[in-house]
Amino acid sequence: MGPNLGGVTCALAALAALLPVVSPVPFGLQIYQCTKPGVIAPGFDDGPWIYSEDILDRMQATGFIATWFINGANKGNIYDYNSTLRRMIDMGHQIGSHTWSHKDLATLTVDGIKQEMILLEEAMVNILGYFPYYMRPPFLSVNAQALSVLKELRYHVIIGDLNTKDWEYQTQAGIEIAKKLFVDGLDLGHTIVESHEQEVWSHGVLIDYMIKIVKDRGLKTVTVAECLQDTQVYRTVRDPNAGQPMEPEPTVTYSLNGRCGNINAGGNLGWTCPPNGGRCCSKYGNCGNGADYCTASVCQPAFGLCDAPKSTYRDELSQSNTATTIPSRTVSNTESARATPTPLGPESTTPDGTCGNQGSGKDKGYTCKPGACCSKYGNCGTTFDYCAAPVCQSAFGKCDPAPERGSKTPDGTCGDISKGNNNGYA
Ligand SMILES: *[C@@H]1O[C@H](CO)[C@@H](O)[C@H](O)[C@H]1NC(C)=O
Ligand SMILES: [Zn+2]
Repeated sequence: MGPNLGGVTCALAALAALLPVVSPVPFGLQIYQCTKPGVIAPGFDDGPWIYSEDILDRMQATGFIATWFINGANKGNIYDYNSTLRRMIDMGHQIGSHTWSHKDLATLTVDGIKQEMILLEEAMVNILGYFPYYMRPPFLSVNAQALSVLKELRYHVIIGDLNTKDWEYQTQAGIEIAKKLFVDGLDLGHTIVESHEQEVWSHGVLIDYMIKIVKDRGLKTVTVAECLQDTQVYRTVRDPNAGQPMEPEPTVTYSLNGRCGNINAGGNLGWTCPPNGGRCCSKYGNCGNGADYCTASVCQPAFGLCDAPKSTYRDELSQSNTATTIPSRTVSNTESARATPTPLGPESTTPDGTCGNQGSGKDKGYTCKPGACCSKYGNCGTTFDYCAAPVCQSAFGKCDPAPERGSKTPDGTCGDISKGNNNGYA
């Protein structure tokens, strides 16, 4: 809905607030692809900031439409960009939430997650008069608890399938990789894009390139909501359903052919792996068990859960050792969204710096010491190379939060470009 409709919008929003929330798009489940054919939905995270207006100018010149997943307090302060937000809406763009302060939702308590969402809602109500049903999690990171809170708060959780990884490639040479990822993603038919508006080389190079490619190829850019064929984009009050029954849980459709979930082989069918056999749906869209399906970095718990590893316990009654399965597997969407996949392996602290189930840590399942993360190469460490979201396997250790911008560098990197990687250390 466009705020330039003024009172009409408010009246419609108020009316919508009285009706039960029914949406063609599920709440609290990761969404990866458009359902409307023939369009793409570019999304830009982490603003608003100093580059936003300039990028809007360049988009306006060719009618490029985007969705902006904004923060309240990240690079900039949202209240310094009131008119920028209004301009985004007036240009027909969409604004979604990227949380108040860009914390990793998978590391927060239920109350912490609610605070990150509701603080931004309040700021958007102050500035625009309404707030979104759409969000993208910082670092694309969620766990079962975060998804269940986001479902309760009625958020569509947008992940996307075309990640330019531009934050990782903030050098003149590196940004070429992000450009290639964008074109390769388009060639593969991917539709929901992730990029960042406040990174130096994205602002300087990548976004112009995206605009040019879209124009050259005659692609149609739309908002994320439009590409999901949804018209319910914003709301004016929190908890419009308080005291009302929720809409019925969607029925689970079990996969009969091993395909599952909404990405890759799962193809937006949303099928769940059947509960018999204890299989998880991997991010490649196939049901299975074993490390390739069950590790936290691969398993999509909303579409099936692996059986917990067998453990041996002493059955006092029979006085015998019995192998049993810990009864944690669940069959309904609701319950499975709450359960957390159990990491394989001994789960003990690493004796040798290796960790996880892949790379150097292959099949050991060791966890790093407190303050260190397990890289996808299977080693523990505390620097950016281990702690960055796409590298860190958070199931096997968590880094301490990064120091404040401007504080003394902990590792010799500094500033915002190249190795400094937007950390802003002095
Ligand atoms: C932005 O809007 C808020 C809420 O109306 C207001 O308090 C604040 O002063 C505005 N900021 C600027 C820079 O105008
Ligand atoms: Zn972000």
